[in-house]
Formats: sequence, structure tokens, C-alpha cells
Amino acid sequence: MKELIKTLVETNSPSGYENSIRQVIRHNIEPYVDEIKVDALGNLLCVRHKEGALKIMISAHMDEIGLMATHVDQNGFVRFIPLGGVYPHHCIGGRVRFLNGVSGVIGVERTTTPQEIPSLDKMFIDVGAANAQTAQIKIGDVAAFDRPFLDLGKRWVSKAMDDRIGVAVLIETLKQLQNSVFEIYAVFSVQEEVGVRGATTAAFGVAPDLGLALDVTATGDTPKGIKMEVELGKGPAIKIRDSGMLADPRIIHWMIQTAEQASIPYQREILEFGGTDGRAMQLSRSGVPAGVLSIPCRYVHAPSEMVDSEDVENAILLLSELLNNPPKLEFLA
Ligand code: CO
Ligand code: ZN
Repeated sequence: MKELIKTLVETNSPSGYENSIRQVIRHNIEPYVDEIKVDALGNLLCVRHKEGALKIMISAHMDEIGLMATHVDQNGFVRFIPLGGVYPHHCIGGRVRFLNGVSGVIGVERTTTPQEIPSLDKMFIDVGAANAQTAQIKIGDVAAFDRPFLDLGKRWVSKAMDDRIGVAVLIETLKQLQNSVFEIYAVFSVQEEVGVRGATTAAFGVAPDLGLALDVTATGDTPKGIKMEVELGKGPAIKIRDSGMLADPRIIHWMIQTAEQASIPYQREILEFGGTDGRAMQLSRSGVPAGVLSIPCRYVHAPSEMVDSEDVENAILLLSELLNNPPKLEFLA
């Protein structure tokens, strides 16, 4: 599984440019599903049929944050805008790789207020070119952060753990899962990082009875970090609230009961800022009961995002249990 994760995180596919990662995922999931479709936006929809069963959509986004070139000056320096939530303090000194293979480093203008973190428009990508002609970058070219997988033993680090670790959990669960009480739509969605756009069209197309997103969540366990109860290594988190959704209480109840019955560690998650595909599913059509199974992750949206291997294993166990235990959804009737 570590090899799969390494392959997934090292494949560069920023939002809107998911071709490479879609091929990798398709290749890895094909043996474990009945049918595969790609919709107009590029979402990869993988179906396990079950006649007459409740239809669950499980969404893990396959895009990652990145950069897009906006201007190349006569000396070959490339200005850029973010694709998704790119923070200036993670950029300086970073390395990026354009999808055309050109690599570069991020530099920054000199500032008169060194204690302030410069904004992205004060930064540029230096691709080592002497002028605009040799830079080989066009306006609109897209780059991903360039950072290989790092194995720290129990903990794993890379760019794009958000959300390739969710992708890995979904692939691995379908690989291990023999039976389910659901008809399963495993969706590898596009453009999550620019506003859950892929899951929006995918959920409309699938029209699920319930939805579950698999994504990373932040932690509060680093020195002087944010006040948040989630910690690395204490189990997958069951989302209760983030800035995009109030998870359906019936789904929360189902997830907690299932975890407790199977003695799988879990954490209750309230995320102050951020959202997931769960929101898109919940607000689809006339509404869908939806929740999120989160994998705790330090340094979300930095080029080095850290997850705990036991949390990953327990997320797979919990997802497998959920797919074998039907929820009680009828009490709103
Ligand atoms: Co993200
Ligand atoms: Zn994510």
C-alpha cells in the first residue's frame, strides 16, 4: 500500500488537470469494480452494482493544489496565481514542476518589511532561463509542488497527501471488501481544491441515497498550533462540522456506532476553516444525507503534509465496516 501511496502523491495533477492521476487510479481500481465511467468534468466514477440496494457515493478528490502561470517577463521570470489554497509562507524556496516538464524554484521580491510574509503577487518562479523565449512557459501553464514521498516509519510525508491519501483509502477498501450492503459509487473527483466543483456534477449524476467524503483534516497537536481536538495517530476523524457543512446527524451516529461496535479508534472532528466534497453531496438536488470520514493530517496545503499509517489503516477498517452496516435514515419520515 505504501508503494501505491508513493505513486499517487508523486503524480502531478493540479485542479482541472487531472489526466495523469486519473489514469493511475483507473489502472489501480479496475480489477475491483464492475463499471467505470468518466463524466464531462473528468470525475472518475467506479461502480459496484447491487440490485435494489441503497446507493452510496464515496468521494475522494484526486486533484491537488498548484500554480498557474500568468506572465513571463523578458528575463524569463514567471508570475503566477494559486490553484486552490496556496499559502505564501509555504512557497518561498519551494520547487515546482510544470506539467510540460519544466521545473523551477520560487523566489520573492526584496521587501522593506522583512517581518511580513510577502503575498503571492510578490513572488515568481525562476525556471533557470535567461529570457522569455527559453523559459518555455506559456500563460496558463500549470505547475504542481515538487516534493517526493518521505517515509518516516509510522508517519508518511508528501505534497498532495490532501487528498491522495483519501484516494488510497478508497482503492484499498474496495480491494479488500468482498461484500457490501450498498450499491457503491466510488468517485474520484476533480477540482475540489477550487470549490468542490467535480463532486457537484458527480453527485448530480449519481443521485445517491447517501454520501460520504474521504478527505484529510487538520490537527491541533503541533507546538502552538490551532485549537483543535484532532491528533495524529488517534484514529480517523468523524466530521461533525466544517465551514462548508454540518454533517448529517444520522450519518455521524451511524459512523460512531459502527466504529464503537468494531472497536476502531475514532475522533470527533470540528474543523473551523475548510470544506470537502461532503458539502457538494449534501447540497445536491433536493439534498442528500452526507458525512465525512477524515484522515488527520499535519501541515495541510504545505508541500510536506504528514499522516499517520495507523490512522490510514483504521480509516480503511472503518470504511469497510460502514459498507457492511446499513444506516438508519428513516427517522426524518
Ligand atoms: Co485541500
Ligand atoms: Zn482535500
